[in-house]
Amino acid sequence: MSETKVKENFNKYSDDNVLVELKNLDKFFKVGKNKTLKAVENVNLKIYKGETFGLVGESGCGKTTCGRTVINLYDPTNGQIIYEGKDTLTLKGKDKQAFKKKAQMIFQDPYSSLDSKMTIGDIIGEGIRVHFPDLKEKEIQDRITSLLKTVGLNAEHGARFPHELSGGQRQRIGIARALAVEPEFIVCDEPISALDVSIQAQVVNLLIKLQRENKLTYLFISHDLSMVKHISDRIGVMYLGSMVEVSSNTKIYNQPLHPYTKALISAIPIPDPDVSSEGRVKLQGEIPSPIDAPKGCKFCTRCNYAMEICRTDRPKLEEIADNHFVACHLFDKGLEEGLRVMREQDMKIENSNPANDTTVVEKETVEEEMDQRLDEEAQARNMDTTGMTK
Ligand SMILES: Nc1ncnc2c1ncn2[C@@H]1O[C@H](COP(=O)(O)OP(=O)(O)O)[C@@H](O)[C@H]1O
Ligand code: SF4
Ligand SMILES: [Mg+2]
Repeated sequence: MSETKVKENFNKYSDDNVLVELKNLDKFFKVGKNKTLKAVENVNLKIYKGETFGLVGESGCGKTTCGRTVINLYDPTNGQIIYEGKDTLTLKGKDKQAFKKKAQMIFQDPYSSLDSKMTIGDIIGEGIRVHFPDLKEKEIQDRITSLLKTVGLNAEHGARFPHELSGGQRQRIGIARALAVEPEFIVCDEPISALDVSIQAQVVNLLIKLQRENKLTYLFISHDLSMVKHISDRIGVMYLGSMVEVSSNTKIYNQPLHPYTKALISAIPIPDPDVSSEGRVKLQGEIPSPIDAPKGCKFCTRCNYAMEICRTDRPKLEEIADNHFVACHLFDKGLEEGLRVMREQDMKIENSNPANDTTVVEKETVEEEMDQRLDEEAQARNMDTTGMTK
């Protein structure tokens, strides 16, 4: 990703600039006879016009479900999705149609998300025909050609079928299809994770360019934090369906506060052999099932800092510093106190880490033993320990 453009910082975080707001959003699935899988639980979030909001977390934490629910592809179980001040679930008729046009999605899998029986031209043209019914056929074809050019393909690609294109080209078609209806807001669901590394940067750069030219707002979903860094203005970290930390790109990378975010950031590989992996926080244990999440903090089964309260009370996402939201009991008494407790705990972990101690002790013990044995053997053979006969 080294050739990727880094997005310019966005800074209009005021209430009059909110495009999408999620209020107490739940999306549950019924599984089996009477079990409930809480894929998204009590998510509260504001996405501002023109920003890229990166949504990250391990696979299965609810990112796709959240993205699909935001654009009403799924009905939420509870809560509201407010778009430009209006509750999207109460929209009807023309207003509903207008929302569907404004909010689009680029799907994760460029292989299964395109209908294999349709030509590329028809795939891109489908939305144009629905949302711009007054356009003549020639105008529709001109739009398709122009969109193909926008995403770096040419008119000739319009006559092809999806299987006749490479993965990178297919993902570009997914982007062209989303752009075809002139949206304002696009949920980009892992748009590059199925692509070769060499193509990933091109697609990210294309998304940044299109955002600038068309004043788009993105909800950019990814399990890969190192990639989200290049494109996001703010980042939200999800764990088991809940939002655990939200802040600017810089704060999330330079001063992560939630223990889960700390572990995710510290797991990002550093492509420098001289940089040691010492001090890295390792995620322990398996992610619990969203059908049977821990009662208190969902992360308590894997958290190095877990306290008594964490097992009984679910922490709320609170703003504990300017534009820095965290759901963690460590910060119940404020930022400074939370950081102090964390530092104390880090020192305890470091001191009690058997790996650190054993390595030193083992080395010393082995060296001592070796010296002793050499001494004994030398004495027995009447030699000094360098092997010279006395
Ligand atoms: N249609 C569905 N029916 C039942 N469970 C689902 C459905 N879609 C997703 N899930 C479950 O919801 C959880 C979140 O899934 P998903 O949103 O795809 O996560 P992510 O995108 O972060 O990998 C997972 O446990 C997944 O198995
Ligand atoms: S609330 Fe407790 S268990 Fe959860 S992340 Fe914070 S310290 Fe860890
Ligand atoms: Mg997903």
